[in-house]
Order: sequence, then C-alpha cells, then structure tokens
Amino acid sequence: MCGIVGYIGNRQAYPILIKGLHRLEYRGYDSAGIALIDHDHLKVYKTKGKVSELELFAQQKDITGTIGIAHTRWATHGEPTQTNAHPHFSQTEEIAIIHNGIIENYSVLKEGLIKEGYTFQSQTDTEVLVQLIEYMKKSNGTDLPTAVQLALNEVVGAYAIAVLERNNPDMIVAARKGSPLVIGIGEDEYFIGSDATPIIEFTDQVTYIGDEEIVTIQRNKPLRIRTIGNIDKTPEIQKLEMTLNQLEKGGYPHFMLKEIFEQPQTLSDCMRGRVNVDSDNITLAGFIDNKEKFLKAKRIIITACGTSWHAAQIGMYAIEEYARIPVEVEYSSEFRYRKPVINKDDIVIAISQSGETADTLAAIELAKQQEAFIFGICNVVGSSIPRKTHSGCYTHVGPEIGVASTKAFTAQVTVLTMLAILIGKEKGTISHDEYLRLIRELSLIPDKVSEILQKSDQMIAELSKSFTYASNCIYLGRGYNFPVALEGALKLKEISYIHAEGYPAAEMKHGAIALISNEMPVVVIATQSDTYEKVTSNIQEIKARKGRIISVVTEGDTQVRDLSTFCIEVPKTEPCLTPLLSVIPLQLLAYHIAVVKGCDVDQPRNLAKSVTVE
Ligand code: G6P
Repeated sequence: MCGIVGYIGNRQAYPILIKGLHRLEYRGYDSAGIALIDHDHLKVYKTKGKVSELELFAQQKDITGTIGIAHTRWATHGEPTQTNAHPHFSQTEEIAIIHNGIIENYSVLKEGLIKEGYTFQSQTDTEVLVQLIEYMKKSNGTDLPTAVQLALNEVVGAYAIAVLERNNPDMIVAARKGSPLVIGIGEDEYFIGSDATPIIEFTDQVTYIGDEEIVTIQRNKPLRIRTIGNIDKTPEIQKLEMTLNQLEKGGYPHFMLKEIFEQPQTLSDCMRGRVNVDSDNITLAGFIDNKEKFLKAKRIIITACGTSWHAAQIGMYAIEEYARIPVEVEYSSEFRYRKPVINKDDIVIAISQSGETADTLAAIELAKQQEAFIFGICNVVGSSIPRKTHSGCYTHVGPEIGVASTKAFTAQVTVLTMLAILIGKEKGTISHDEYLRLIRELSLIPDKVSEILQKSDQMIAELSKSFTYASNCIYLGRGYNFPVALEGALKLKEISYIHAEGYPAAEMKHGAIALISNEMPVVVIATQSDTYEKVTSNIQEIKARKGRIISVVTEGDTQVRDLSTFCIEVPKTEPCLTPLLSVIPLQLLAYHIAVVKGCDVDQPRNLAKSVTVE
C-alpha cells in the first residue's frame, strides 16, 4: 500500500518520478504528490486522485529540479484529500517526507509535539513523523540522517520513508521497517522505489534496504547504510532479472487480460527445470535442501491472505491426498493474533505474490519465534518474505500489475502441487505410476490453458453481457474446485463490484439456496470427478428454483450442459490439476463483466495490490 519513488542525479527528476508513480500506482491511487528541491526552494505539489490528476495539475507549473521524492497513496489515516496527500512538510517547511506504512503510536507522539508548539495540517500519521524529525534535528543540533535515526527510535509501526531537506539539495535520507524499499544505483545517480518497477528502465543494479536500516543517498557519493541502532552496513548490490517489457501492456487493453493470457507461458516458466518429463522427475531446490524436515513433518500450516489463501486451500487438498500430512490453512491476519499451537516439527508455508503482505510477514515472525521451519512461496524476487523464510520457492511469473491476481494464483497452485507430489514420492505415499502420470499431466497444463483461452474468451465476452444486471452471484464447487469457487467469486467482487459468494456445492442447501431465483446467476464448476454426480444433483436443485446456471465442465460433457444457460468446457486432466484449468473461465468471466460494466479493471476502487498495512 502506497508507492514511494525518489531520484537524485543529473537529470530532471520530475519525468522520472511521474513515470515511477505510474508504475507503482497498483499500490494505491487515492492521491499522489511530489517534492523537489529547485534553487534553494523545497516545493511540494499534490492532488487528490490518481497520478494522472497530478500530471494534469503539474502541466500548469514549471517544475524543475534534479532531486525529488514522490508518492501514490492508499489512505489509512485520514480521508483521501489533497491535505492528507503526501509529501508532508514539517512545521517550518524545511523538511518533506513520503511514507508507506503506519505509525502506530502517532497519537502519543503528536500530543508530545503539540506540547512543544507544533501544529498539524493533516490527519495523517506521516505528518507526525516529519515533525518529529524536525524536532529531533533542532533539539539535538544534528544532521538530517541522525535526526531521522533519532525519530525512528521513537516510532512503533511500519514504514518506508524518504526525506528531503531544503538546505540539503544533494541528499535524500530513506529508511524502512516492514514496508519495502529498494535503491537503484546508476552511473552518477540513484533511484528509490517501493519495488524495482520504477527503477528497471534506468539501471539493473539495486540494493534492497533491510528492516530498521537508514540509507543516506548523496549525489556522487557512495550509499551509506546504518541501522537505527547505529551499526554501519555494507550495501549488497544485486542484478535485477526483470525486463521493461514485462511492465508494459503489450497490446492488451488491461494488465489483467494480459496476465490471464500470459498463463500458458507463466505456468511453463514456473515448471521450467522443475517438472522434467524426459527424466520423469520433479525437482524443487527448496525441498531438496530441506527434505528431512518435510519427510518428518507432523503437520503443515499454510498461511496467506486473499487469492494466495485460496491457492493454499488447494494446496491443502493436494498435500493431504498425496503426502498424507495433515494441513491447516490459516488467514495470516487471524493466525498472528490468536495463540496458535505451533510445534518445532511443524512446517509453516507462507504464500504471497508480493512477498510484502504485512499480516503474512507477522505470521512468519510468530512461527519463527516458535521455532517452526518456514517455507515461502512468493513471486517478487528479493521481497521481504523470501528474505525472512528459511527456504522456499519462487513462482517466477514476472511482475503482476493488475490488482486482481490471476497468473500468480495458478503458479502458486502449481508450486503447491509439485511440492505435494514430490513429498508423496519421497515418502512413498504415492505409487511410482501415479507419480509419472501426474508429472506428465502437469507438463500438459500450459497447452490446455492455452486451448481454453483460445476457445472461450470470445464466448465469455459475449455471455458476460447478460450478467451485468446482477447484483449478486453464487459460485459453487466441490473438492479441488471449492477453493476455485471462492477465487472466482473474489475476482468478480474485486473488479465488477457484484456481490459474490463461493460455497461448497453441497453446503448450498444449508442456507444459500434461499437466495436462488431467476435473478440469481449461479456459476457451478462441474468438471469430471468423484463428486460429479452429486454436483449435478445440486445443479438440478438450482434449476428447479429457476436459477441461471453458468457451468464449467469437462470437454464432451452433455449432462450438465443440458441443465445450463451457458456452459464452458475445459480439457480433461487429473482432479488435483483441474483448478489450473477451471479457474481460467472464471478469471475471464470476472474480467469481461467488469469491462462491460465500465469498471476500472486494473485499479478497482478501494483496493491495493500490495497490502503492507494490517
Ligand atoms: C491484496 C491483493 C490480492 C492478494 C492479497 C494477498 O488483497 O489485492 O490480489 O491476493 O493482497 O497478497 P499477497 O501479495 O500476499 O499474495
């Protein structure tokens, strides 16, 4: 939540900062702002709304300066108004700050500052921090980096900040705890970003700032990193693997559609070097390095949020079926605050696309304190979660920009399935024949996804037009397809604002059936499985109550097709792999309904892609 960008060098900062804000807009789009130092003046420009509003506003100004910071906000404290937009000035307007995170003890700090004569313009926690930095500077007579350090020692909460000072036109001080921060290192310039997306266009050399570290970035000088406890650190420079192409829409009208269509490729990328059909094996480095722990595990706890939590549910089905290890799936936000029983021989798997979700990070900390082994499944390389886990596995789908997660989900399911099969093989809980069959089927998935996309996209675009009237929708599935029903419903809610609920198909008669009428679209996943006949009976029950059925069935199905208003086919595969196919039509359905409704598909209201606050 909230994106921060910064630049110091010889070029004009404004175009770099604006472009960077556009790249980070997925993190929040309630307001945007920019601060630059231009000939001894520290200037702040900010507007309510998206980055494009800021650009419009800036057109009328003559903005120059080779040092600046910028912010796109997802509101936490205070409404999304211009006053609450970042950057925030200190009392004397000598210092400006941008911030991603939450200062939890801001009201106590604010009271103290008010007693010292400070007044506040905004309702934000961030303004408290910039005032505190100014206070520390004045009362201790220190330089800016030390004032930031002193202030951060008083702060409880999460932050990634960047600070500018009017009479310090060659320096930006940045720091992080909990929220992400990366510095790009150019020839004679530096870039700051919440992630590497604003940086990759200019340099592939980066350093990730660690928790409780403060970095002093000066024109033509090496970076200086010091912890808030005053220990000097040497920056570790890494090479980015991301490419600029991955950040563009590539001819698609929306990132979400591009990402849906990328799935044949991203699934191949996720399995590359891991699923080997020629040598008939699955290799996962994170597993091999910790094989004994997995084989001895008495229980696996999977913790995640949102779409990643749905992938976790599918992982639970697969691990229990093939590895015969009991699995519990936890919402990170709940797990972290109850007092879960975690044993030393438990394995905790944390799943996160962004690798930055605050609740999942906190759940990892909790499990670590109780000495569990933590395995991360993440997409963003170098993000916080992979750095805090003992081992793990990247999904390798490239940057996911659309706020509604699609390609990350299918890759998470793929990694969990590979893991389940691999543990099963090593434990001897699946037969060799089953192991070989699953490997072969996994390797066919990218082509099958491609087939669905080619055959169904146009048809789903058409049928979507008949459902825009709906204000409610029910999604049903059983077994491996129950979490897919949850995910399909979430996609629809997120981007089309139609209220949707997912249910296990048989559970419907314990409540949701009361909602069925000819006004209610019901999406049923009824692919071939042990429970196919049971799901067909559920469909009959809906039909008898005049519900409008959109079904997802296995190729060649006639029984469910005859009962459905619309029927979408997916190729046949192993039951544990059906989620990778059945979710594709549901992603397309949500996408097309949102487009027909004129919704902002890539930046749905109130949402942010990376949730770095509780
Ligand atoms: C937000 C995003 C979702 C995502 C969830 C968990 O709500 O909008 O798409 O599933 O966070 O994010 P993570 O990065 O941990 O997978």
